[in-house]
Amino acid sequence: MNNKQDSYFLKLTQFVKNYCGISLSDREKKRIMSIIFKRVIKTNMVSATEYINHIIDVKGIDELKIFINNITISETYFFRNYNQFNALTNYIIPSILKRKKEKKLKIWSAGCSSGEETYSIAIALHKANLLNRFDEIKIIGTDINAPNIEKAKSGIFTKYSFRSLDNSIIENYFSKTNEKYTINNLFKSNIEFKIFNIKPDQNTNYPKFLKKIDVIFCRNVIIYFEKIIIKNILNNFHNLLAPEGFLILGHSENPHISGKNLFTPIKTDNTFIYKVNLPNKDPNRNKDKKI
Ligand SMILES: C[S@@+](CC[C@H](N)C(=O)[O-])C[C@H]1O[C@@H](n2cnc3c(N)ncnc32)[C@H](O)[C@@H]1O
Repeated sequence: MNNKQDSYFLKLTQFVKNYCGISLSDREKKRIMSIIFKRVIKTNMVSATEYINHIIDVKGIDELKIFINNITISETYFFRNYNQFNALTNYIIPSILKRKKEKKLKIWSAGCSSGEETYSIAIALHKANLLNRFDEIKIIGTDINAPNIEKAKSGIFTKYSFRSLDNSIIENYFSKTNEKYTINNLFKSNIEFKIFNIKPDQNTNYPKFLKKIDVIFCRNVIIYFEKIIIKNILNNFHNLLAPEGFLILGHSENPHISGKNLFTPIKTDNTFIYKVNLPNKDPNRNKDKKI
């Protein structure tokens, strides 16, 4: 890489961080440059610098989205970190059922990749006979990566997505055709998928579908973000959660980075979950907030 490309790479990393929170380290330069060169060829541009200039320009927004789809790490599988699903059904839902008057449940799988996490939540609730304990259940899976969201919506997976599971879940919740596994229709009315960037943006209102969330799963997403952005995201999660809400993060992520006392860790089912702290948490608080 020459000096000119180095300075363009730096410009790109700043831009990407600002756009979606992802920090591209120097160690990733090789991977990112190889993605850039592939896109240079595909888009008939002449150089990496031309490509970078294009995607950081407002006119390059469509190509920027394709670039972001290519750089995001989409690794996921059904019931990843199994204990957290046990914590959901053994601790979180009983606690919500005990305290919440309204029998409505809203769970957000933020950074859901191709949907395995979102469907795992629904399957876990069904297996534990908890679906029928609520009058209304919404499980929302969001991700910045549009092809991943399309795959999630299709509900079709390969065996690789079940790598940590025994066959009973596959047999009970999927139908198999030509080595493809399709989720059955049981959860159709409960699950929705949307493209959404969780990086806070001062000018955007909270979308309606993200208000009064009971549980946020945001696992293995903020690990790629810079501290200041993680802080803002955790603040937003705190605002978006209902007063009895819970946050579930990946194993190597924790909310202390916020520097504020936003969540209380609870150890249950051999894992940690985080309960929203109540002081200054009034139910109307997030009504007109900006993300
Ligand atoms: C490693 S996957 C984690 C999937 C799932 N949560 C799990 O733990 O199995 C990380 C996901 O975060 C998504 N992501 C990264 N930055 C994002 C952003 N700013 N907004 C929304 N999703 C983002 C990526 O597209 C990717 O699908």
